[in-house]
This record gives sequence, structure tokens and C-alpha cells, in this order.
Amino acid sequence: MTDISRAGAFALGDLTVNRMGYGAMQLAGPGVFGPPKDRDQALAVLREAVASGVDHIDTSDFYGPHVTNQIIREALSPYPEGLTIVTKLGARRGDDASWLPYSEPAELVQGIEDNLRNLGVEVLDVVNLRVMGDIHAPSEGSIGAKFSVLAEQQKKGKIRHLGLSNVTSTQVAEARTIAPVVCVQNQYNLVQRDDDALIDELAGLGVAYTPFFPLGGFTPLQSSALSEVAAELGATPMQVALAWLLQRAPNILLIPGTSSVTHLRENLAAASLSLSPEVIRRLDAIAKSPAV
Ligand SMILES: NC(=O)c1ccc[n+]([C@@H]2O[C@H](COP(=O)([O-])OP(=O)(O)OC[C@H]3O[C@@H](n4cnc5c(N)ncnc54)[C@H](OP(=O)(O)O)[C@@H]3O)[C@@H](O)[C@H]2O)c1
Repeated sequence: MTDISRAGAFALGDLTVNRMGYGAMQLAGPGVFGPPKDRDQALAVLREAVASGVDHIDTSDFYGPHVTNQIIREALSPYPEGLTIVTKLGARRGDDASWLPYSEPAELVQGIEDNLRNLGVEVLDVVNLRVMGDIHAPSEGSIGAKFSVLAEQQKKGKIRHLGLSNVTSTQVAEARTIAPVVCVQNQYNLVQRDDDALIDELAGLGVAYTPFFPLGGFTPLQSSALSEVAAELGATPMQVALAWLLQRAPNILLIPGTSSVTHLRENLAAASLSLSPEVIRRLDAIAKSPAV
């Protein structure tokens, strides 16, 4: 079995997690809506992740909605010592599967209660304020009012640590004037590198950066250069994409998503894949000419 601790660990406040984690979004039904096609397989993926040493699971109550958190609870509760579950708040789902941004502070408070109930915990480990922005890319604008609501709930003991998702550097700075920020979760991968400067800035602050869509999301990364490198290394393209992220910066935490035990094992094995400087240079070139 892969020793995922080879990828190292990083602190989320007073919680330390392995840099190789797991993202649970793929456990809901198609379009992240409704129940999964194979519930037993979803339970098996979560149990295999934890048995393999994963101690950082990313989720949201808007996956399903509620479905993913309920599956996490069924698979893993009572939760093992040291497991950190990171959830996010900022939208609810319409009956047509749409993503509807929260507009009222009361919705954030209700969202916290929904997460507590569906995960079956008394305190949420980490809550990211999910700023809806341009859905998968951030846009500027004050987030202070919403982040203050979460900070208030943190003071009440409902949340241990706070983070942000889909935000700009300016928004991180604004939030940090209100309460400590332990992690930022934005879209980033081998070909989507808008956050290069933000990652380095956060590394300097000791704040974790957790890329969403680390494998390209709903359309996994495809690149002939990536495939060539993977073949030379006897690895898969997905493993190389994850190893590249691990070597990109020490504050990057991985939460690749999968609904498959086979893919999970493959992804976790990337924890022990080491890339030479020459290979990194070839992979870096992909972002400069992604249409390959
Ligand atoms: N903050 C946010 O706004 C936000 C947005 C999106 C996601 N997230 C979080 O980030 C996590 C990761 O993102 P993601 O799951 O959307 O995208 P991802 O990790 O980039 O990719 C997941 C996709 O890759 C496939 N896949 C996974 N491992 C594979 C492998 N070894 N070989 C081939 N295909 C593979 C999955 O299909 P299979 O199921 O068939 O393996 C799925 O289609 C999510 O689980 C969620 O927790 C956060």
C-alpha cells in the first residue's frame, strides 16, 4: 500500500494533515446532484481513503445537496482520531440542480447547522467561505460581511478554523483583518495557473492552498506532453499531474476527487512520485501551450 505520508504534512491551524487528501464531490450523483449511481462504491472509496492514511477530506453540504456529507457520515462515523473534514458554504442548490449564491447571513448560519447535522459532528473542523464570483474563477468585491458571519460562528464554538474558496489576494487580505485564514481553495492545476503568485504569497504567510480541479475537474487533463512524461516514468498522467502539484509549493494540499477505488489508489500512489527538474520544466511548458 502507498505510504502517503511521503508527500509530507501541513498545518491547518492546530490541525495537521497529510498533504495528500481526498475530495468527496464525485460521490454525489451526476452533475453533483442527487444520490450516487453506486452508493456501496461511494462508501468503499471513503473507507479505502482513510485506511490508506488520508486524514483530510474535502466536502460541502451543497454536494447532492446533503448527499455527500451523509455518505461521509455513514462510511466513517464514529470518525477516526485525527481526521479533518473541510466543508464549504456559500450557495444552495435549486430543484433544477442550479447553484444559487447565498444572499442572506442567515443562510450561512443555517448552512453551518446543516453541515453539523449531516456530518454528525458538534464542531466543524474547517469551513471555507465559498465566494461565488464567476462560479469557477474569483472576481473582486468585499467579502467582509459574509466572512464576519463565519467568524462570529467560530467564536460561538461551531467552527474550529476558517478558510476561503474562489477568492483573490485582495479578498484574502480583507478576510485576514477579520479572523485567521488557514486555507484557500481555488481552481489550479498543470494548465490552469492563474494563481501562481497567490500560492507563493500564501506560502509566505503559512496558509495552505488547496487546488480544486487538480486533475482538470469534470474533463480530466489531456496533454500529449503529460502522457509522454508519464510513460517515461512508468506512471499515469493523473499521477504526474498530482506529483507536479506536490512539488509546485510546500503549502499545496491535494484533494483529487474520484468515485472509483481504482482511481483513488492510483491517485494516492502519486505521493511517492518524484519529478526531476528537467521533467518539471517540460510540465511547466504545458501551461504555456495548453492546446496539445
Ligand atoms: N471550492 C470549490 O468551488 C470546488 C469546486 C470543485 C471541486 N472542489 C473540491 O475539489 C475536489 C477535486 O475536484 P474534482 O473532483 O471536481 O476534480 P478533479 O479531482 O480534478 O477530477 C475529478 C475527475 O477526474 C476523474 N479521475 C479521478 N482520478 C482519476 C484517475 N486516476 N484516472 C482517470 N480519471 C480520474 C474523476 O472521475 P472518476 O470518478 O471516474 O474517477 C472525475 O471525473 C472535489 O472533490 C471537491 O471536494 C471544490
